[in-house]
Amino acid sequence: MLLVLLLAVLVSSCSAKREFYIDWENDRFVKDGETFQYVSAGMHYFRIPHQYWEQRISAAKSAGLNAVQTYVAWNAHEPQPGNYNFEGDLDIVRFIKQVQAQDMALILRVGPYICAEWNFGGLPPWLLGRPYLAQVKTSDKGYMVPVIEWLRVLGPMIKPLLYANGGPIIMIQVENEYGSFGCDHNYISDLANYFQEFFGPDIIYFTTDGPGGYKCGSLPGTEPLFTTIDFGVGSDAAADFAKLRIFQPHGPSVNSEFYTGWLDHWKHGHSKRAADKLGVSLDELLALNASVNLYMWHGGTNFGLSSGAQYRNGLIANPTSYDYDAPQSEWGDVKLDKYWAIRNVTEKYFPGNKMPVPQDSKKLGGISVKLRLTGLLVDQIGPKTLLKKYPLPHFMEELGVFEGIVAYQHEVTAGKPLLNVELQLLGVHDRAYVLTDGNFVQVVKREEEVKFNVTAYKTITILVENMGYIGFSKAMSNYDDEYKGLKNVTVNGCVWTNWNHYRINVTDTSMRRKVDMEEVANLSLQNQVKTKNWQGKDLLPEGPAVFSGEFVLDKSQLLDTFVNITESWSKGYLIVNNKLIGRYWPDAGPQYTLYLPGVWLREGTNTIRLVELQSHSSHPPSDYSVYLTDKPYIDGPVNPDA
Ligand SMILES: *[C@@H]1O[C@H](CO)[C@@H](O)[C@H](O)[C@H]1NC(C)=O
Ligand SMILES: *[C@@H]1O[C@H](CO)[C@@H](O)[C@H](O)[C@H]1NC(C)=O
Ligand SMILES: *[C@@H]1O[C@H](CO)[C@@H](O)[C@H](O)[C@H]1NC(C)=O
Ligand SMILES: *[C@@H]1O[C@H](CO)[C@@H](O)[C@H](O)[C@H]1NC(C)=O
Ligand SMILES: *[C@@H]1O[C@H](CO)[C@@H](O)[C@H](O)[C@H]1NC(C)=O
Ligand SMILES: *[C@@H]1O[C@H](CO)[C@@H](O)[C@H](O)[C@H]1NC(C)=O
Ligand SMILES: *[C@@H]1O[C@H](CO)[C@@H](O)[C@H](O)[C@H]1NC(C)=O
Repeated sequence: MLLVLLLAVLVSSCSAKREFYIDWENDRFVKDGETFQYVSAGMHYFRIPHQYWEQRISAAKSAGLNAVQTYVAWNAHEPQPGNYNFEGDLDIVRFIKQVQAQDMALILRVGPYICAEWNFGGLPPWLLGRPYLAQVKTSDKGYMVPVIEWLRVLGPMIKPLLYANGGPIIMIQVENEYGSFGCDHNYISDLANYFQEFFGPDIIYFTTDGPGGYKCGSLPGTEPLFTTIDFGVGSDAAADFAKLRIFQPHGPSVNSEFYTGWLDHWKHGHSKRAADKLGVSLDELLALNASVNLYMWHGGTNFGLSSGAQYRNGLIANPTSYDYDAPQSEWGDVKLDKYWAIRNVTEKYFPGNKMPVPQDSKKLGGISVKLRLTGLLVDQIGPKTLLKKYPLPHFMEELGVFEGIVAYQHEVTAGKPLLNVELQLLGVHDRAYVLTDGNFVQVVKREEEVKFNVTAYKTITILVENMGYIGFSKAMSNYDDEYKGLKNVTVNGCVWTNWNHYRINVTDTSMRRKVDMEEVANLSLQNQVKTKNWQGKDLLPEGPAVFSGEFVLDKSQLLDTFVNITESWSKGYLIVNNKLIGRYWPDAGPQYTLYLPGVWLREGTNTIRLVELQSHSSHPPSDYSVYLTDKPYIDGPVNPDA
């Protein structure tokens, strides 16, 4: 019996050579001797808890898709230079093997620039600091040297997983939509050469650009880069592909980002795209023999501080949810209208799919968690790092802190209080919370340089929040746009000097010392300026503070849930069991609940913490609660003035 099996394996491995290539003459991909057309599922392993990868891949397969397409998030894998992480949700090799285990092909978008509405477009922000001071996405050594080192590390992990070597990877992407950024063919050509050095010759390297963008984003002809394009529902696919033929006369037509939905921004309504048009457009593409990637099949979540930002007359930050209105929701349930729109089309081209429709997962709800004030954020400022005449504008980049919050503090000269002076903050990136003598006085947004009056006897403290590095456009390589800190502070029009620099790690806010309400009230009263709470009493200082609470779960309750952060809260960070889940901002919308995967909950006591940056004393303390609910709410009203 064993011998028979062995023979069968030998025979089958001899009969079809394992190969994947472009048949230029016949405008097609060939896989093991057969024409291959792919419809791939866009999903990003780094936006999904690894325990759920298998379910997300399987759901895609059930819709008739035959490949998975993912970006690689360099900045998540290399948070500090030379310090790599390939564990847990970043175990890319395991993800790729799971794709193969379900008999799907894999398209790997290495970049290393990926955009993706991800912090700094996937690049590590330390590129902006010393010694690199990188001109990103150019041939600048400060950029190319770290890129090469990264490819040198990634290459050996990926190479055994290429199709020719027995793995599922059929194509690797170089750069991303570079044509929207620059037009240096030497840079693209050098980058392509480094890819060949580290990933080898046995794989198709490709680029992706919007229609027309490939003139700058790719190289003319066929080698070494295969040119693909991206466009959504409603574009004239036949015309777009016909135009591409002028640039690249032969080869299969590929849409690498066919949009099933669209991205979200804080302060802007949740994006939605209709299901019916999606099916019609997909049908048109497949009828043209095109291969298509659904961007996204499943968006996932920008957990932690991974969400990015765009720049359009100011910073526009992306929320924590990356649902994308994709066919498979952020929480893994399929949206049946889009699901069937796709499955009906794939059935037409690849008939015989018998897989069952994925069932919705059971959710946890009906739990309220009462929080108590456990401290003030200013108590969390770390050791003084340095005193400077003027504030360091590139605070984060100069001091090697690339996320969260930093603080600048000026000590008022003893006996010389600043009485009703006019304060102005210049060049705030991205949002400042101003406190005098420990009392919250003002929020300053990046796009505003408001003037306001303050009185300070002891200190002026300015907390500056990083809302995500810009991940798109020329602003990425402009040091006047891409820095986190503030430029100067004026008092009655004069530049104010002597600033101490501090950092705050927002995840590490499980207070070193417990502060009870009375103690906080006393602290506030000690300071000369009194603040009023929601009842008009001189009690709690407003502004950045930390709230904590606990909830107990039994084994049967370890399910996915949504943390409903109601309008009692303004803006901040949600931390569960010491894991930073993400940013919340009900003052801005449209996201009001944060997806909390059940795999991060535990039997027994769970802890929940909010680092609330703005207001809390405008509400009665009885409202200091958050709710675990079984329903998401990510398409709520928005407030452009938040
Ligand atoms: C699609 O491919 C088939 C098989 O090679 C061919 O007969 C057909 O003409 C192609 N259709 C288009 C629109 O190119
Ligand atoms: C999919 O096909 C089924 C069976 O033909 C049909 O009932 C259903 O309306 C279709 N759904 C969509 C969204 O096209
Ligand atoms: C703000 O301070 C300036 C300078 O001290 C003063 O002239 C002005 O009246 C103050 N404005 C308000 C609204 O208090
Ligand atoms: C801050 O102001 C000082 C004094 O005018 C000036 O020398 C310095 O360049 C300013 N800093 C920035 C970042 O503009
Ligand atoms: C912040 O604190 C957390 C928890 O102590 C720690 O795991 C993390 O590495 C810290 N982050 C930075 C950037 O220091
Ligand atoms: C708050 O101040 C009052 C009056 O000075 C004092 O009796 C009380 O012990 C203080 N409470 C705390 C927690 O420091
Ligand atoms: C969130 O909580 C608020 C306040 O209790 C409630 O009005 C709202 O319906 C909740 N939303 C969800 C999605 O549970």
